Amino acid sequence: MTGEELRALRERRGEDQLGFAGWLNGHLNRRYDRSRVSRWESGAERIPQQVEQFIRSQEIPAGGPTLPAELTPVRRAVIAVANQKGGVGKTTTAVNLSYTLATLGLTVLLIDSDPQANATVHLGLDPGEVEMVRKGLYSVLRGGLSFDAIAQPVCNGLFTLAPSSIGLAAAETELVAEPDNSLVLKEKLADVRERFDVIIIDCPPNLGLLTINALAASDLVLIPVQTEVFAGLGVPLLMETIAKIRRRSNPSLNIFGILPTMYSARLTQDQASLKEIQAHYEGRTRVLPVVPRATLYAQASGAGRPAVEADPNSASVQAYTDLAREVAAHLIARPTEARHGVA
Ligand SMILES: Nc1ncnc2c1ncn2[C@@H]1O[C@H](COP(=O)(O)OP(=O)(O)O)[C@@H](O)[C@H]1O
Ligand SMILES: [Mg+2]
Repeated sequence: MTGEELRALRERRGEDQLGFAGWLNGHLNRRYDRSRVSRWESGAERIPQQVEQFIRSQEIPAGGPTLPAELTPVRRAVIAVANQKGGVGKTTTAVNLSYTLATLGLTVLLIDSDPQANATVHLGLDPGEVEMVRKGLYSVLRGGLSFDAIAQPVCNGLFTLAPSSIGLAAAETELVAEPDNSLVLKEKLADVRERFDVIIIDCPPNLGLLTINALAASDLVLIPVQTEVFAGLGVPLLMETIAKIRRRSNPSLNIFGILPTMYSARLTQDQASLKEIQAHYEGRTRVLPVVPRATLYAQASGAGRPAVEADPNSASVQAYTDLAREVAAHLIARPTEARHGVA
């Protein structure tokens, strides 16, 4: 394997050199660092045979595995918003979609499953306070609390948030020692699942146990992808992970679609990468309506509210309204029926 091949492979996984070294160390019990990976890639140092063998055994097909594209309607849906890349619009999507679904009359629970607690902040709550009173997701996953004990009404009671705080990071390592450690969230959700039409999980930017728990507990995955150069990097690995979870613990898990985000129509580069995404996934996974790049999103999150609430008539938020309608259409129970709790 040449250094160039190694680099291409690493980039296909969507990882930087540091993350890649961490991945190898976790599997091979080594202490490689970023500069070592850099030397392998530049050809300055030979790639150890053990590393090469391991990497080859883990190789993923260029387009990722083929997953069934058809979606069976469900009565209630748990939707994971996932992509191991940070800054692609996961939290923005989770927050705005939760809000819009709630305005359609659906009962919505948003779970902030990222220790960085961006969704919690985005909805005007203070993660420091959540941490202090121990009423965050960590206490549900590790402390024996129920979702009811931590749930907070947000946006004037329009929907419910299960907040997060930095302490959630510890769950990632503590869960390693648990039996069936990918099913903890699913088990905890059983108590509240029937009470919400839609449960949305905002995942952290990695494929660790919190994301695995979210995928194992979900019916659908929504994958935001930023329309930029190499936008799809890392998506094949996410798809591979989803395929594994389907095989092992959650056969009904499906991909709802790829959501292109932060799209600037006047940038030829964005146009090209959108075309690339559409061509790549055509016939395999739905590519949803594009979310345009707009300053409104950062402004609204800074003000502690969803953009769709701050400026519901703006053309920039239309994509989330359309997306919410698509999600609602996927539910067998119509919003009005759902509200009155069809048993
Ligand atoms: N459509 C958009 N246009 C402009 N900025 C956006 C858009 N969506 C998200 N952002 C901003 O990009 C940053 C990353 O978005 P975020 O939703 O937090 O990503 P992730 O959860 O994947 O890390 C945030 O500052 C957010 O306000
Ligand atoms: Mg986020």
